[in-house]
This record gives sequence, structure tokens and C-alpha cells, in this order.
Amino acid sequence: MKNFYITTPIYYANDKPHLGHSYTTIAADVIARYYRLKGMNVFFLTGTDEHGSKIAEAANKNDVTCQNWVDGIIGDFKSLWKRLNISYNDFIRTTEERHIKKVREVFGKLLRQGDIYKGKYSGWYCVACESYFTDTQIAEGKCPDCSKNVERLEEESYFFKLSKYQDTLLKHYEKNPDFMQPSWRASEMVNFVKSGLKDLSVSRKNVKWGIPVPGDETHTVYVWFDALLNYISAAEDKDIWPCDIHLVGKEIFKFHTVIWPAMLLALDIPLPKTVFAHGWWTVNGEKMSKSKGNFVNPHKFIDKYGCDAYRYFVLRQIPFGDDGDFSEKSFLERYNSDLANNLGNLISRTFSMVEKYSLQNVAPSANSEFPIGKLLNNFDEKFTKSMENIELTASLELIWEIIDEANRTIDSEKPWVLFKTDKEKLKLVFENLLSAVEIISKAISSFMPETSEKIKKIIADKKVSEPLFPRIND
Ligand code: ME8
Ligand code: MG
Repeated sequence: MKNFYITTPIYYANDKPHLGHSYTTIAADVIARYYRLKGMNVFFLTGTDEHGSKIAEAANKNDVTCQNWVDGIIGDFKSLWKRLNISYNDFIRTTEERHIKKVREVFGKLLRQGDIYKGKYSGWYCVACESYFTDTQIAEGKCPDCSKNVERLEEESYFFKLSKYQDTLLKHYEKNPDFMQPSWRASEMVNFVKSGLKDLSVSRKNVKWGIPVPGDETHTVYVWFDALLNYISAAEDKDIWPCDIHLVGKEIFKFHTVIWPAMLLALDIPLPKTVFAHGWWTVNGEKMSKSKGNFVNPHKFIDKYGCDAYRYFVLRQIPFGDDGDFSEKSFLERYNSDLANNLGNLISRTFSMVEKYSLQNVAPSANSEFPIGKLLNNFDEKFTKSMENIELTASLELIWEIIDEANRTIDSEKPWVLFKTDKEKLKLVFENLLSAVEIISKAISSFMPETSEKIKKIIADKKVSEPLFPRIND
């Protein structure tokens, strides 16, 4: 069996999961389910990033130990993933022994082989980002990433020889056009690497909540060096590396396309095949942030609209890869139009007529004389191509093209007239409609697993019971 390995980022366990986290995880789940249905041996990994000052800060504020804090938060992640039907195969936590062991092993190995060396850092430090910056990066004393105040810092640090891998990385990008996706995001990374890589500080003296550097316990391992290694510590003994897709948000693309592959090159481990960065959600036009307190809580929408409507909305609303905006208004609109009207009505109209006109013995079959039949015959090839290109929104659009065309077929062929005038044609029309429903039920199963099961049951029972998506009037 062919292997397929897909990951999400491991999310910071400093706070509960929100819309952004659910987005990446749902997308990864859709891809994982798709390849499982293709018969592949899928390993779908998610988890939590549990070290570093962000976590310590949250624990402090809540007056609990760091370990207690993260133990509590992962319950919030796991229960959300359960409600969203996330079919992960493994959930890795960076505080687990299997991970800590790997990080210390890697750090020790790179130290021995000279890819990590002890040096002195002097420059600017952002506590919030746990990152160092040079004079030129600091505009008016603020962090270039989070715009908080930075402080002058001079201290001993371990460095990873990132600069050494500059040319190898550039060659890899050139030879592997699929490595960075969507491809329009690649040039920024290529330019960054071309502009010259500096060695990376990979230890912190001022961060206590972290993995001690082997042999020098006054330092802890830099949280990103620690976190990135989750992808191999979870795959240990699995024979599944290299990873097929690291799915990430665009703000951490650089960590995954520059630092991570350089670490792997140093370790002489093959590079992942693809790093795909999706865009960012704003909410009612604004960035989600602590200060605004506008994080979208997925539970609120799952309660009101259901798990599958939520999964559908986030992947349909913005073309996968781009940025976009979340609002309840657009959610409600899509729910009522795409789900209640288009999909829901197609299923209920089709099967209430199957019952009413006694068409239970009609077998699904696409007939190219009908526009719907033509679409159905071409669907598989187009859908496969679009899924394999990680064009998740476009894939949903292909499914909805069928739904819309099937509804149009009912409107224009008027089965209620054919029942009286042309039984032969009525049967033909329903062969196509039933074929459409069958294809839809299969194609949506990675996106909307519960709905797919419901439709499959309706197909087997040859009748509808309750509406799949009752209209919601706000
Ligand atoms: O960065 N829109 O964790 P994190 C879309 N621990 N996606 C969003 C989003 C938004 N507004 N906000 C968050 C970390 N995300 C590190 C990762 S990996 C080795 C270590 C999603 O909790 C998106 O996937 O800040 C983003 O990359 C991720 O959450 C960041 O989660
Ligand atoms: Mg973040």
C-alpha cells in the first residue's frame, strides 16, 4: 500500500483553539480522508506546541504550573477535533518523552558534527516572539513581527549553521517546483534565502520552560527548533517519512521552507515533498487578536449550524490559499443557499419523486445526451486533478456544479409532466439524477463525512426522512 503522510502545525497550547486552528485542521482532514478513500496508507498528524515563554506566561497568569496548564488546554483541542470529525492518526505533544528524546538526540548530533556551535549573541530580542533581530530589522525599537518593544540582549547562545545550507536550499527549490505551494508564494522565500542566510540562534538562557540543551542545562532549546522536530519524532519507527504535505498558515511558511529543510539537510534526512501555505482569516474585516477579543469560537457555529456546515463553509468561502473574511452573515447566506436550497433540496426533491412516481427500480446511469450526464462523465478526472493539486475550494465548486445542474435538470425536464406524458424519458432523467446523487455522496465524503453517510442511507432506503439542512432564519 502506498503511504501518505500529512501534518498540521502543532498549535501553541497557550490558549483554546479558534477558527484559524480549525481551518488548517479541517483542510488536512479532508486531504487525509481523500487519500484514505483512494486506498492509501495515510498518516495524519496533528498536535500541540507546549514549550516556550508564551506557554509559561499563560500558566503564570492562571496560577498553575506549566505542565498543568498544557494538560488542560489539550483537552480543548481534542474535544474540538472530535466534534469536527477530525480523523487524525496521532496527536503529538512536545512535552511527551518520545519527542523530548528526539530533540535532545538531534541537538546532540548536530553539536557533535559541528552544525550547531556555541557563540555569542548580541542584538535585539523580542520576548513575545522569542526571536532575535538585527539593528536594521528594528524600526523604532519595535519587533518587526509583532510590533512590541524589543530589548538589547547580549548572551551566550548555541547557533545552527543555517548559512551553510543556503545554496543547497536554492538548488532544491529550483529542482522541486512542488516543494512550495501555492507556487506564487515561493518567490518571497527564494528572495529571502538569496538575500543571505544568517546562522540561527537555537537556544535560550532566559526561557526556563523548554527542553534543556544536552550537556549544558543552563540553556533550553529554542521553541521552533523543538517544535519543527515533531514531524519526525511522531514518525519514528513508522517508515512513513518523507512527509507528503506540511499544511501551514502563511505566517509560518518560512520556518517550514527554510529552517526546517536546512535542519533536515544537516541530519541527512530527505525533505518533505510539499509545504502548502494557506491564507489568513480576518473576522468582520479585522485581524483576530487578544486585544480585540474577537477570536471566532468554532463551537458556537457547530452548535447552531452543525459540524458539516462548518467544515463546508470554511473551505468554500475563501479560495484555498488566499486570505479572506469570516462573518456570520456570510455563513448564514451560504448555509441557506448552498446547503439548504441547493444540496438539501436536490436530495429531497429527487427522492420524494422516486417515491411518488415509483421509480425505486431505476438504476443510476449518466447519459451524455443530457447536460447533467455530460458533467457527470467528466467529473472524476476534473475532481481528482483538483484534489491532487490541493485546490480544495475548486473541488467543492466542481461538486456544486453538479448539484446546480441536477436541480436545473429537474426544473427543465419537469418530471411531474413526464409522469403523465413520457414514462420512458422520466426513467432516463432519473437515471441521471440518481447518478448525480451517487457521485455527490462520494465526492463530498471527505469534506462532509456525516452528510455523505446520510445521503448514502437515503440512496439505500430510496426515500428521504428529514431535511439534511433545515433552513435557518436569523
Ligand atoms: O504558529 N487564519 O502555532 P499557533 C488562518 N506553534 N489560519 C490561522 C489563523 C488565521 N487567522 N490563525 C492561526 C504556531 N491559524 C506554532 C507552529 S509548527 C512546527 C509550530 C492557523 O498556535 C494556521 O495554521 O500560532 C497557523 O499557521 C497556525 O494556526 C498557527 O498556530
Ligand atoms: Mg501564531
